[in-house]
Amino acid sequence: MNNIDKTQTLGQIVAKHPYTVDVLNKYKIDFSFKGNTTLEEAIRKQNLLESDVISELDLAVDEFKLMKSKVIYWENEPIDKILDFIEGHHHKFMNNTMNEIKMLFLLDNSDSEQQNQLRQLFFSLQEEMEAHQKKEEQNLFTLLREYSSNRTKELRDRIVKYMIDTEDEHDSAGIIFKKINTLTNDFSLPEDASPRVVKIYELLNTLEKETFVHIHMENSILFKMI
Ligand SMILES: [Fe+2]
Ligand SMILES: [Fe+2]
Repeated sequence: MNNIDKTQTLGQIVAKHPYTVDVLNKYKIDFSFKGNTTLEEAIRKQNLLESDVISELDLAVDEFKLMKSKVIYWENEPIDKILDFIEGHHHKFMNNTMNEIKMLFLLDNSDSEQQNQLRQLFFSLQEEMEAHQKKEEQNLFTLLREYSSNRTKELRDRIVKYMIDTEDEHDSAGIIFKKINTLTNDFSLPEDASPRVVKIYELLNTLEKETFVHIHMENSILFKMI
């Protein structure tokens, strides 16, 4: 018990206890795009019962300790390793999953208002995220790799400029994810959903959860190392 310090930011809490994300997702506490918010502030803003949230988070930490499972604490890892993981895992997963969803949308012929809106939101998300990830890999990550072995002020200043733009782009993607979540009522299937629509919802839900962790890793771990 008492594993959680509510005055810490959500980004700090998840970096220290990565296995708490399911509890935060359950309460729709945004540890990803809003990682700089403290836990107590998030609880207050969302009118949640503080004792419930904290005891569930505490329990998640206790259970993890009992299981003696291994987890990577990314804030203790070198920048290069983090960049390799983001590119090799998160960016790849994002591109593959978005392409899979795109194919399903192209084959889907349902034309309800909701499905049309969802299609539009998804295609703008894909366009933004593909451009964003490409930019990250070509510009910011290249500079960060250089910086990890050559920590000059000049390089740092250039990185900080890119980081500000990158965080703005994250916020923009976060807004689209929020719209998708609201439109689908947290991925509740419409009545008479076809198997294809069921699959689209399932993949969008996975994509959302995965993106939360991806953006947390960039905003709250990687960028805090600079
Ligand atoms: Fe990324
Ligand atoms: Fe990013």
